[in-house]
Amino acid sequence: MARVNGRRIIVGVTGGIAAYKSAELVRRLRRKGAEVRVVMTASAVEFITPLTMQALSGNPVHTSLLDSSAEAAMGHIELARWADAVLVAPASANFLARMAHGLADDLLATLCLATEAVVFVAPAMNRVMWAHPATQHNCQVLEQCGVKLLGPADGEQACGETGAGRMLEVEQLLDALSNHWQQGPLAGCRLLLTAGPTREAIDPVRYISNHSSGKMGYAVAEAAVDAGAEVVLVSGPTALACPSGVECLAVETTAEMSEAVKARAENCQIFIATAAVADYRPAAVQAKKIKKDTAVLLLSLERTEDVLSQVAARPDKPFCVGFAAETNDLEKYAQDKMQRKGLDMIAANLVGDGLGFNAPDNALTVLWSGGKQEIPRADKGIVARALITLIAERYHAQSSS
Ligand code: CTP
Repeated sequence: MARVNGRRIIVGVTGGIAAYKSAELVRRLRRKGAEVRVVMTASAVEFITPLTMQALSGNPVHTSLLDSSAEAAMGHIELARWADAVLVAPASANFLARMAHGLADDLLATLCLATEAVVFVAPAMNRVMWAHPATQHNCQVLEQCGVKLLGPADGEQACGETGAGRMLEVEQLLDALSNHWQQGPLAGCRLLLTAGPTREAIDPVRYISNHSSGKMGYAVAEAAVDAGAEVVLVSGPTALACPSGVECLAVETTAEMSEAVKARAENCQIFIATAAVADYRPAAVQAKKIKKDTAVLLLSLERTEDVLSQVAARPDKPFCVGFAAETNDLEKYAQDKMQRKGLDMIAANLVGDGLGFNAPDNALTVLWSGGKQEIPRADKGIVARALITLIAERYHAQSSS
């Protein structure tokens, strides 16, 4: 169920007796670590109060397309963009019909039309309404549009009849969401990754660091989640937000990064070191600010821990991927680094010329024992996805050999 952790989920509630189960759904999603916003139709509020849903979701409930307060807090387009998934539970026959026709006559229907996130619907209605050709046709249309149908189940109905039309149980809805994020070439894989720079204090106001923005590492973390992996990202200071679905641990120094990685390396199958780790730190951190009272100031530096080599030396060593940023002799230095650090793969890039540090683009030469692939210059998100595909291929090839 870890896949739900950190996800942004909109729970849409339409009018139906099963709306009481939505309260439990929202409560369970929150407990699994999801961020939840609830959108209710006009009929839904006849069955369960927005106040209940607000208390359980921890967010204001959205009920109307033109509600100035909710709209001001987050408009329908913003909500549509915010979501990683929309789950309409219960979805009434009327709502399915409106959605199948692309109507945008209330907030929930508009949102479902305006979002690029995956939309799930959990139908709940009387068995005859469910079996009606119009409802069946609407569901076919929705499935063709990419909407995922969850249920309905067979059983006893609120109207006293028995048959197909019951909303799935909360547990089944949670499983469906979780499974959705468990597909992909890294499904079920635990992946640990470092990103960003590290900072080494000189005195209370100064430090040694580098130009790493963390963009490449964060893009790799995001691509890994999309490939189905469970991702922990240990990050030095960056201006980036933790990607959705990723567990982020913030660190500052190399020693902190090394400790955080050690604590999470057990049981991980893949380790990717994208961090630009400071190779040296001041041998002694001055307790007071250094004053400029000498013409020359000498700093004595000592080596920091090599986070990647430490992981690669573990008896339960995961598949280890390093990065190599070089200004010249790219392949030669990268090959050498791969061997020296005991890596399974290395992604090498040239720095400078609008590439690498703090740039939106990157290009990689990826090397592994007996193989090589170029990932051409592109946005870091695209490069990250290509890299993750390659890592998944090599990881599976290695673990099956
Ligand atoms: N790395 C690390 N810990 C360090 C230094 C580097 O985990 N203290 C990782 C980086 O995240 C990267 C890889 O090792 O994946 C290569 O880093 P680099 O600093 O370029 O390697 P070095 O062996 O230090 O080579 P160089 O002589 O170029 O500095």
